[in-house]
Amino acid sequence: MYKFKIRGKAKKLKGITSVSGSKNAGLPIMAATLLAAGNYTINNVPNIIDIRTMAELLSILGSKVEFKNHELKIHTDSCICYEAPYDLVKRMRASIYVLGPLVARCGKARVSFPGGCALGARPINLHLEGLQKLGTNVEIEHGYINAEAKKLHGNEIIFEQRSVGATANILMASVLADGTTIIRNAACEPEINALADFLIKMGAKIEGVGTDCLTVNGGQNLHPADVSLIPDRIETGTLLLAAAITKGEITVKNCCPSDLGIVLEKLREIGFSVNVNNDSITISGKGKNPIEISTNPYPAFPTDLQAPFASLLSTIKGKSIIDENIFSDRFMYISELQRLGADIKLDKNRIVIHGGNQLTGAPLMASDIRAAAALVIAALASEGETEISRVYHLDRGYERLENKLAQLGADIKRVEDN
Ligand code: EPZ
Repeated sequence: MYKFKIRGKAKKLKGITSVSGSKNAGLPIMAATLLAAGNYTINNVPNIIDIRTMAELLSILGSKVEFKNHELKIHTDSCICYEAPYDLVKRMRASIYVLGPLVARCGKARVSFPGGCALGARPINLHLEGLQKLGTNVEIEHGYINAEAKKLHGNEIIFEQRSVGATANILMASVLADGTTIIRNAACEPEINALADFLIKMGAKIEGVGTDCLTVNGGQNLHPADVSLIPDRIETGTLLLAAAITKGEITVKNCCPSDLGIVLEKLREIGFSVNVNNDSITISGKGKNPIEISTNPYPAFPTDLQAPFASLLSTIKGKSIIDENIFSDRFMYISELQRLGADIKLDKNRIVIHGGNQLTGAPLMASDIRAAAALVIAALASEGETEISRVYHLDRGYERLENKLAQLGADIKRVEDN
């Protein structure tokens, strides 16, 4: 177990850094390799816990997986096993991504029911209802989802609410279903577009990529494909916020500015100067204006940057508001920020911040990936030393974030936490 030791208000972050490949594009793409036998190469893969967990799951399902130097080599064989065990699924909810591909390719799947997590209840009704509409028989028993389908058939699926995971699962299942599937109110996050592009490279016929209506002409013969993952837009935002809170100036390279439209607008609204090149973003200046944010499905403000932004806004004088409209309980980090002296309160799903207090270092505990990132960001602006325990949460979604921040001038160290 490790913890971080951070001495805040040390220096302004300065310099150039680069962003890793997208965790949330990589996970569904890895699951999609179950759809066709053969050899796949996936590049620009971040070396993080969740990617390694998905690699472990694919190996359990019979694939051969090699992961080194940010490159995944996956050899998918015939359907050897179709069970995703509890001890894996409880570690990573995204294990549910194998459900659709297994049912489509093997005709059955047995996946442990993913529990809740630090973001509150995270049901999978939309995944299961979608699969049932494609002809899957779904039963839940002993904490497992037992799904079977002789042959999937196309259908029209209208999601009552936007869901990234459900869109991914149904999209992957529908490419092997006979006939046409129309997915309405589909998520159109960049990671979903990346999955759709990968499936098209595998031979799938999908129209409407980038919109909330995907039309799949299923039943094509699929074959393996190679891909390089898109940049991680959430890590990009995290790095920009780390610089912003220290009033520094950094350039993030190898990123995709167009995936962060509203996020960059919000940083400018606070008062930072944000300049975009084709694959890099430079942030500088000081923030001075409190703002209001509402998280919603893409292209609206991403819920994954809600907590990191709250840290920054705790240092901006005035009243800021963040409405969290995606997850019911993505607020566990608030009590940790209060320990640093932040004036931040929760009113139902509204976070009310009266920014401007000088934060002071304290021992903190991370509770999920983005909460951990928020604590790191806040610690960079806190006087004195902050210790953050349970950084394995951070390591699930960020590759050695402390190294990138240290190279930019942060006083941050990873130490054993006995
Ligand atoms: C994905 O989670 C991301 N995870 C999350 O990032 C991200 O915050 C989220 O999408 C944004 O919507 C991955 O891509 C691996 P949803 P997912 O289905 O698919 C409800 C991170 O930090 N819902 O879009 O689980 C759900 O409870 C992670 O990288 C149902 O009610 O999210 C939530 O309120 C955290 N029934 C809302 O929809 C369902 O069947 C959006 O969830 C499915 C979801």
